[in-house]
Amino acid sequence: MQDKITLLDNKRIILGVTGSIAAYKAVDLASKLTQAGALVDVMMTDAAQQFVTPLAFQSVTGRAVYTSMWQTDSSGGLPTHIAHIGLGEGADVLVIAPCTANTLAKIAHGLADDLLSVTALAARCPLVIAPAMDGGMYGSEVTEFNIRILKGRGVMVIEPDEGRFASGLVGKGRLPETPALIGHIRRMLGRDGALRGKNIVVTAGGTREAIDPVRYISNRSSGKQGYALAQAALDAGAKNVTLISAAQHLPAPVGATVVPVNSAAEMLYAVLEHTPNADALLMAAAVADFTPEHVATQKIKKKDDSSDAPTLALTRTPDILLVVKKRREDTGFPRVVVGFAAESEDLLHNARAKLERKGLDLLVANDITASDAGFEVDTNRVVILDTNGGQETLGLLSKAAVAEAIIGRVAEVLRR
Ligand code: CTP
Repeated sequence: MQDKITLLDNKRIILGVTGSIAAYKAVDLASKLTQAGALVDVMMTDAAQQFVTPLAFQSVTGRAVYTSMWQTDSSGGLPTHIAHIGLGEGADVLVIAPCTANTLAKIAHGLADDLLSVTALAARCPLVIAPAMDGGMYGSEVTEFNIRILKGRGVMVIEPDEGRFASGLVGKGRLPETPALIGHIRRMLGRDGALRGKNIVVTAGGTREAIDPVRYISNRSSGKQGYALAQAALDAGAKNVTLISAAQHLPAPVGATVVPVNSAAEMLYAVLEHTPNADALLMAAAVADFTPEHVATQKIKKKDDSSDAPTLALTRTPDILLVVKKRREDTGFPRVVVGFAAESEDLLHNARAKLERKGLDLLVANDITASDAGFEVDTNRVVILDTNGGQETLGLLSKAAVAEAIIGRVAEVLRR
């Protein structure tokens, strides 16, 4: 079971499904959207019903599935008995996935000869289209022309994946997987959020300091809180979200630009490069404080002598937040800076001192000795300190919920 997603919770989504073999993937999409809290009304074209049944969608959404223009709603729950008007009226977004070349062309030109195309024409909510078709059809001049028309009208057209088609051919035109589709839908639903138009930079993960070509020193940070912050900033409508990441194996949030880094020095360089016009910098990364003084160019070998072991001389890394503080005094950017403090003792006292020393607007402190908070786990327990002496204690929450609270506070500071 997937967790609820705040941005999707209680949102009315119309999911239009058209006649592509990828229609089976739309069942998973409908299921995951429902689990995230959305109310999903599925509309299927005749061709879609050749691939999957309405019952499949009804089973995962727990709601009626609409297949015909002439079908009236019997539940009485809609503002009108005419399905295409009633459904379209209250919807937050209309998603067509998969969308065939035929439906795409109809919608681009205002043709309205079945329930889905009539609804698309009548609806006033934003439209998200995920084309899925053979590479030849997707790459054809007329489809490209139709996509340009739709984009010009503000429709979000999700770029299909490349890969192998049911025909055996390889090319571009495959329906992206569910997490990618949901990422795009979130982008559309969040576009007028509290960070609309803003440039946000987030760092994540534990830096890796090389000892030799195969070994490094690192820490237990997974990067999950940083990735959740990037997603929350996207959900809040940020224009650009740059995720400077030392984390590995985490899926990039749709819409974020990921800048991979290894060491503290590389992270400093990336932060300076990406923050000259940033509205906010959130330093969620666990930056190494020490790095090997010399990096061996070849793998360090052991000798036959069993007592042999090298001594590692360490040196200090740059404090990124202190460098940023200095630059902000000169340029005014980033406009808002958020630091994080992982403490194992005297949490509030150490955190308050860090907020002041590093010139932060907000400091998010967590006690890493708690087993349900901090490193590696999916939950966190934090206190947010501000420059007015305020401290907000959040109870045990998912890292996504913690991220939303922090992003809410950032938006508030930016408004001032
Ligand atoms: N940080 C940084 N550059 C470093 C080390 C830390 O910018 N070289 C940032 C972290 O990303 C975090 C904040 O500073 O936002 C506090 O990190 P933390 O490790 O808690 O503090 P330190 O400054 O390392 O202090 P100490 O190790 O003494 O607790």
